Amino acid sequence: MNAPERTPMSLLPLVPLPVSLAADGSAPFRLDAGATITGDADAAATLARLLEVRTGIAPAHAESGAIVLRRSPGGTAESYRLTVDAASVVVTAPDAAGLFYGVQTLGQLVAQGDAGFVIPAATIQDAPRFTYRGVMLDVARHFFPVETVKAYIDRAASLKFNALHLHLADDQGWRIELASRPALTEVASGTSVGGDPGGFYTKADYRELVAYAAARHMIVVPEIDVPGHTHAVGLAYPELGEAPVISEEIRQTVRDYGGELPTPRTPYEGMAVGFSSLKIHDEATYDFLADVFGELAGMTPGPYLHVGGDEALGTAPDDFAEFMRRVTALVADLGKTPIAWHEAGSAAGLDEQTIGQYWGLRTPTDGMDEKARAFVRNGAQLILSPADAIYLDMKPSAESELGLTWANGPTSVERAYAWDAAEIIEGIDERDILGIEAPMWSETLRTLADLDAMAFPRIAAAAEAAWSVPLGTDALRAWESFRDRAGALAPLWRSMGVALPASDEVAWTAG
Ligand code: ACM
Repeated sequence: MNAPERTPMSLLPLVPLPVSLAADGSAPFRLDAGATITGDADAAATLARLLEVRTGIAPAHAESGAIVLRRSPGGTAESYRLTVDAASVVVTAPDAAGLFYGVQTLGQLVAQGDAGFVIPAATIQDAPRFTYRGVMLDVARHFFPVETVKAYIDRAASLKFNALHLHLADDQGWRIELASRPALTEVASGTSVGGDPGGFYTKADYRELVAYAAARHMIVVPEIDVPGHTHAVGLAYPELGEAPVISEEIRQTVRDYGGELPTPRTPYEGMAVGFSSLKIHDEATYDFLADVFGELAGMTPGPYLHVGGDEALGTAPDDFAEFMRRVTALVADLGKTPIAWHEAGSAAGLDEQTIGQYWGLRTPTDGMDEKARAFVRNGAQLILSPADAIYLDMKPSAESELGLTWANGPTSVERAYAWDAAEIIEGIDERDILGIEAPMWSETLRTLADLDAMAFPRIAAAAEAAWSVPLGTDALRAWESFRDRAGALAPLWRSMGVALPASDEVAWTAG
């Protein structure tokens, strides 16, 4: 599509940007109390809920309605086609996910006109760039209750993310109940960073989250971060943990942020990283991992189990390699695809399916790009989470009370937006990339309002990186357009309950 043909599109608040759109400014569809929806029952229920939240009008499901949601063959997975004119709204898609995404786009199109709500006339064809589009929530540094996680799923699904990665265990706490290892939650779940209370998900809670995500076409990717980030494991099973390795960096973190140095058998409530390790040369460790990942595999319908592997700073390189080889083989034997942070790329003999997750900077430093390339040389793909772009826990501005700054200082909305996946790691292009994930680490974050303040609108920039065409390849796949489209989504986001933060960069539309 060329720019002039698409000019009216700049008025439509669609994020992520669809592949193609034609909008000629002709008469819109008027959404009134008599509107009815026909077609796929799940999609109709999703749309009715969304319209009720946005407008107060909940259209009924009917045999024949002006709003049509229909599965129809043709098109790639998760794609959809949407046409709106004065008389009708029609969404067609080859699969349920595509219909769901068409419904989300429809929700973004709804506008308050002079005489009630309207949906502008438009024709949209759309499909994702990447198959994996993730958000991550660190529920270990601070625990978030089920209702908060569900609210975060709602926010992410509305932006066409399809994976929720849960960072379920770290030095500060263990957050998932496992029948095979009950002491983990009995002993090691009660604390968080800064002396805040902890918590954990029961097996029923986890099932509920998996089902809630699935109803919104998201998988859950559980992470148990090993061999480092495991001080909490050592509280529950002291025989499995090495004594903390106290480096100068850890002493500095304690000086900068307070708290105590990590001590064996004492809950850790600080923010230092890289001091803990499971025992690498003890078979009891591998019995533990077989229990933990085996039980998680049985609870998780999605294809992935994340094994962590980052910041094992107290573990010797050969030991780290041997450990990562064994834990990725264990996960593969369970019938799941392992994901590991990019450091694991340094380990020879990783299970060759292992997906690497790159969390270095947009311009790689310290050989992190080489570690990431190793996964691709093994025959697998990468998930990209460039920390100085889409680590949503980085301060959005220097004045922000929430958030951290280690990834190149504060991350503006523009910086979160203005990068492209295929440009990050030399030698890695489109086909090597499984997708994009925007992590939210929670050292400084305690509530849903905190998550909203950090996520919005940068989570939308990550969504566009994951779904839309490459940066700069469409006149509207550009910062100025994104800034305006995101700003104009404020009424929808507010209606969903999002606590939008004040922004110097994005002008939120009133309403
Ligand atoms: C990470 O941020 N340590 C994955």
